[in-house]
Formats: sequence, C-alpha cells, structure tokens
Amino acid sequence: MPPYIHPPGGTGLPSTGATIFLTRHVFCVLSLLAMLLFPASSCPPPCLCSSDTLVVDCGERGLSSLPPMHLLPPGSRSLLLANNKFASLGASSFANLSSLEELDLSNNYLDNLPAGLFRDMSNLTRLTLHNNSLTVMDRELFQGLVSLQSLDLSLNGLSTIPVGSMDELQHLRWLSLAGNRLHGLERAAFEPLVNLQHLELGQNPWECDCNLRDFKHWMEWLLYRGGKVDALECTLPKDLRGRDIRGVPVEMFNYCLQLEDENGGGGGDGARSGQGGGPPCSRSALIPSGATPVSDNSGGAGGDSSSSTGGGGGGGEASSDCSRARYRPVSVRRAIGTVVIAGVVCGIVCIMMVAAAAYGCIYASLMAKYQRELKKRQPLMGDGEADGEDREDKQISSVA
Ligand SMILES: *[C@@H]1O[C@H](CO)[C@@H](O)[C@H](O)[C@H]1NC(C)=O
Ligand SMILES: *[C@@H]1O[C@H](CO)[C@@H](O)[C@H](O)[C@H]1NC(C)=O
Ligand SMILES: *[C@@H]1O[C@H](CO)[C@@H](O)[C@H](O)[C@H]1NC(C)=O
Repeated sequence: MPPYIHPPGGTGLPSTGATIFLTRHVFCVLSLLAMLLFPASSCPPPCLCSSDTLVVDCGERGLSSLPPMHLLPPGSRSLLLANNKFASLGASSFANLSSLEELDLSNNYLDNLPAGLFRDMSNLTRLTLHNNSLTVMDRELFQGLVSLQSLDLSLNGLSTIPVGSMDELQHLRWLSLAGNRLHGLERAAFEPLVNLQHLELGQNPWECDCNLRDFKHWMEWLLYRGGKVDALECTLPKDLRGRDIRGVPVEMFNYCLQLEDENGGGGGDGARSGQGGGPPCSRSALIPSGATPVSDNSGGAGGDSSSSTGGGGGGGEASSDCSRARYRPVSVRRAIGTVVIAGVVCGIVCIMMVAAAAYGCIYASLMAKYQRELKKRQPLMGDGEADGEDREDKQISSVA
C-alpha cells in the first residue's frame, strides 16, 4: 500500500492552515494505521527517522512544543531535539520511551523541568541539557535514569545541586556543571556517583570557604581514584581569587574546624546531610596530610593523578579513608554496635568474676590467718592437745 507510507521529507507542501490541519489529521490516522501494519515506518511529523540507526532527528526545526512522541518508531535509540525553542516540557512528555539511549535537548530555552520527567527512561545513557535556562533542579528530576553514563548540564543558570538529586545515577561516568552559577557544592550530593570518571566545574563563581571544604575532600578522593576534574577556580575570598582550589592547601581550611567547634558542630553542618556531620572525619583527614608528605612520594604509581594537586596529594589518601568511613553501610554499623555491646557485657561479666575470685581469695586468706591465731592462742589457754584439735575442728566446721 504505497500511498499510506509516510514520505521521508515530512510536511513540506505549501498549503493553507486548514489543509495543514487536515493533512496532519490524515497523517495521524495514516501513521497510526501504518504503525499497526509496518511498525518501523511511523515518524513524528517534522522529524527525520532513520530505520537502520534508530535515530529520530528533530533538531533545528524551530519547534516550541514537542512532536507527538507516540509516533516515535518503536525501539528508537536516539532522540535529537537540540536547537529548538522549547521553554517547558510536560511531566509525561517522555513517558514509555524506555528504549531511548540518547536524548539531546541542548540549545533550547528550558527553564524548569518537572519532577520525574525522565522516570521511564531506564535505558538512557546520554542526556544533554547544555545551553538552556535551568535555574533550579528538582530533587526528583533525574529519577529513573539508572543507566545514565553521561550528563551535560553546562551553560545553564543552576546555583545549587540538591542533595539526593543524583542518588540514582550510580552509573554516571561523565558530568558537566560548567558555566552555571554555582558557588558551592554539597559533598553528600556527589557521594552516590561511585563510577564518576570525569567532572567539569569550570566557569562558575566558586566561593572557596568552609562550605566548599568537604567537597574539596571528595574531589581529592575522586582524583585519587584516577578521576579527572577540570579547574575549579575560586572567585571568593579575594586572596584566593583565580586560584584552583586543588592547589589550596587543606590547612587553609583549618579555621573551619574552629568555627565548627565554636558552634558545637551544629547549625549549618547538621542541616547538611543528617549523616552525623563532618568534624571527626574531617579532622582525621586534615592531620595526616600535613604530617606525612613522605608517603606521597613513595606511591609512584599514583603520582600522575595527584601531581596536579600538589600539596593536596596527601590529603587525598586520608580523605579516601574518610569517605570510606562515610560509606559504611547500615548493616556494618549495626554489626559494630552489636560487637561493642557484646564487649561491654563480657567486660562486666569478667569484672564480676574477677571480683568474686578476689573476694574468695581474701576470704580464704582471712580465715587462714584467723585459724593461725587461734592455734597460737590455744597453748596459752593450757588445754590438752587432743582437746585443742577438737576445738580446731569445731572452729573449722562452724566457719564452714
Ligand atoms: C504508556 O504505556 C501504558 C501501558 O503500556 C499506557 O497505558 C499509557 O497510556 C502509556 N502512556 C503514554 C503517555 O503513552
Ligand atoms: C534496554 O537495553 C537492553 C540492553 O541494551 C535491551 O535488552 C532492552 O530491550 C532495552 N529496553 C527497551 C525497552 O528497549
Ligand atoms: C545557546 O542557545 C541559544 C539559543 O538556542 C543560541 O542562540 C546560542 O548561540 C547558544 N550558545 C551556545 C554557546 O551554544
């Protein structure tokens, strides 16, 4: 049925609005029919669909609303929507598109994306949101992106990355946050990214103060693992302006500990992650970095990754211990708790046994002494030996 098959060029015919409307409807019906009969031949109107590469290209079409996604050829792998005029997307725009592996939304005007927008895209490995107008990120925005390996959020207006927003991105290897309005980052937001290899943070107004200290530790751990981070240049405070935070020695942040001590570790730090805060961990991470510069040189293999960090190299090792401590799962913590309680109970029982033994010894020695004194006194009383022995027996039996 050749006339039913959708022409690859799309709706290029010059015609009035009414005819376009009609042809769209006819197209819809025909495409639906075609989809039922020839699943590979449907394609959302202004886009180009390639049946062999499974790429749907809707880029540079001047679109301000999404083409009908239900017409996407089943099994499509890439959806290219870059260089259009999208300003917003509905929460179910990408519902059921679980076959997609790549989604490109760069160079649009998206300013706020709804929670759960990518919920069904469990096969997506590449998501590009480069050059949009995102200023806030919902904590649930990246829900469901369990296969994501590459996320490009560069050139937006983001000022914070909420803790928990990347919890499901455990396969993420590449992340760009370059060219946003970030001045600080929460370490807890990045801890779930256990497979991250490459992080871009340039062109942000970083404030290298206590708020960035924990993130610096995390970053050093990432470098220690062999990951790559581009420059994170401080804009504040003034005396660090233009300096890469990786080159700022950890000792520069020692005053943060004093601040925390003064505040009793409460306040801003407690609100951060609810993980019990940083002080004990951070302290142990700070001390060895200054004390053991020798171990830094002895590990020749790790030298190339830590060489760029300069003085911070020693801190990387220490802070890796620190992160490991934080990663300790609940079960391990419970096991440790059980061991501690068992130890305390055993200790108490031991102490009681020792006390009982000591009491027994003292009692026995006292009794022995008492009897010796009795023996000494008996001759003085002038009684016969046999009688004395009788008394002694009586004494012992009475004691017993
Ligand atoms: C997604 O698929 C389910 C069942 O397969 C269907 O009920 C639902 O309408 C679909 N949603 C969209 C937005 O296509
Ligand atoms: C997701 O990817 C896997 C492996 O590449 C594939 O077997 C599966 O069919 C994909 N899921 C969908 C819905 O296409
Ligand atoms: C960003 O997107 C806008 C609008 O699409 C475009 O005009 C501009 O050239 C893009 N900038 C870059 C650096 O890609």
